[in-house]
Amino acid sequence: MAINIDEMAVFCKKKGFVYPSSEIYGGFSGFFDYGPLGAQLKRNIMNSWWKYHVQDKEDMVGIDGSIICNPKVWVASGHVGGFGDVMVACKKCNENMRADHIVEDQLGVQAEGLSSEDFDKLIKEKDVKCTKCGSDELGDCKVFNLLFKTFVGPVEGDKAVAYLRGETAQLIFANFKNVVETSRLKLPFGIAQMGKAFRNEIAPRNFLFRLREFEQMEIEYFVHPDKEKECPYVDEIKDYELLVYSAEMQENEKEPVLMKASVALEKGIITNGWHAFWLVTETKWFEELGACKENFRIRQHRKDEMAHYSSDCWDLEYKFPFGWKELQGIADRSDFDLQQHMKHSKKDMSIFDEETKKKVVPFVVAEPSLGVDRAFLVFMFDAYSTRKDEKGNEVTVLKLNPKIAPVQVAVLPLINKLQDKAREVFATVKNNFNCFYDKSGSVGRRYARMDEIGTPICVTVDFDTLEKGVLTLRNRDTAKQVRVKIEDLNEKLNLFFAGEDFENLGTAVEK
Ligand code: GLY
Repeated sequence: MAINIDEMAVFCKKKGFVYPSSEIYGGFSGFFDYGPLGAQLKRNIMNSWWKYHVQDKEDMVGIDGSIICNPKVWVASGHVGGFGDVMVACKKCNENMRADHIVEDQLGVQAEGLSSEDFDKLIKEKDVKCTKCGSDELGDCKVFNLLFKTFVGPVEGDKAVAYLRGETAQLIFANFKNVVETSRLKLPFGIAQMGKAFRNEIAPRNFLFRLREFEQMEIEYFVHPDKEKECPYVDEIKDYELLVYSAEMQENEKEPVLMKASVALEKGIITNGWHAFWLVTETKWFEELGACKENFRIRQHRKDEMAHYSSDCWDLEYKFPFGWKELQGIADRSDFDLQQHMKHSKKDMSIFDEETKKKVVPFVVAEPSLGVDRAFLVFMFDAYSTRKDEKGNEVTVLKLNPKIAPVQVAVLPLINKLQDKAREVFATVKNNFNCFYDKSGSVGRRYARMDEIGTPICVTVDFDTLEKGVLTLRNRDTAKQVRVKIEDLNEKLNLFFAGEDFENLGTAVEK
């Protein structure tokens, strides 16, 4: 990773991946718009997630719930009462700050899970200052609810209040009975959802990392309450190595340790096979799409930072340029949500278990919950690299995995006179791959533009195409070139996107 988060924001804007939202009006803090390349990359990430987690799995189904729903859902879930961050305002300049952020930044201590009173004490004792004006006159800390409110219908007022969903997960719980009854599911099984969520963050920061409007990819995985720790898939993941940072290691100031999932389970560091299964499954998803495994670790929540619904939680963390941060929470929510909805809606949420012939309220043993925008950043950081071109200039090469690259194949006529043939070639591949046609500028300049946006393969139409029916394929990561016959192009590209080495696609071009 060669750049910091601000440089990544600049790069994303310059190349059309992401822009500040409504920038012509000065932008809007915590909101961003995806541009042409970013929209495609994000879509590819989400499609890949859906295929890996839903389409390829027998025990998973997906839903797409509404963004605004009956507000009672959020009362039952605990979000109306207890979904907040502790805020502190500067008495001098009125800046609103997240108490945990200023305490962590200025005192270098872990502050998650502290109460308003804890923060008040720390801020006074340690002379914590306003991040904007430097004043030490800070007000009392108070909890700020993160749900966005809106009004439904023509009359505004308390009775019309509704909320933009603070997570997609609650729609899974609210629809639990409908999904089970219409999908004939048997425990254990998972329900997945991707979509927008909204949190009125006090201090959005770090570009796409902490947003007010963001996108989630979430799974609620349900198991029989008596079989909470019986994961039948542990054998599939036992040899996979993870960098493990348990609560005990954190409390005793030890370093994280690289170990196989089986070792973490044997030593009782991870106590539930389902957690090990999901932590590996999720790390593998990132790895298979090109992320660097050494930038990932799993960290257990300490008791003092556990969410209100959670009895054990492991985060999958990534080493961002601004430190190790959460990508994904694998929380054990027990039957908290279903029981809450049962209590508030008075509807039965239990299901009949064929094996035990009993009605049970399933437990959620893992909630693999991932922010799409954070995943987007991971793939961008791990893909970003530079190399020297022939003239010794440093150029950017975005080494995105071909499966998610926003442009998969660029077709380039060597010179304008070859456009008719190049258009013919473009027509043969454009239905199979996400393609881009580029005729402007020197071919070297066009290669460089494609390297910068992560296009894995350029197909160049030159004079040999007219005379001998062959094309030149150029690889983004190595700048190597091979020749292939026009009639073989689709087959060769299919092979490459299925994982074949570029050099095996055709005859090498000697420079
Ligand atoms: N559903 C968990 C989260 O939104 O973080």
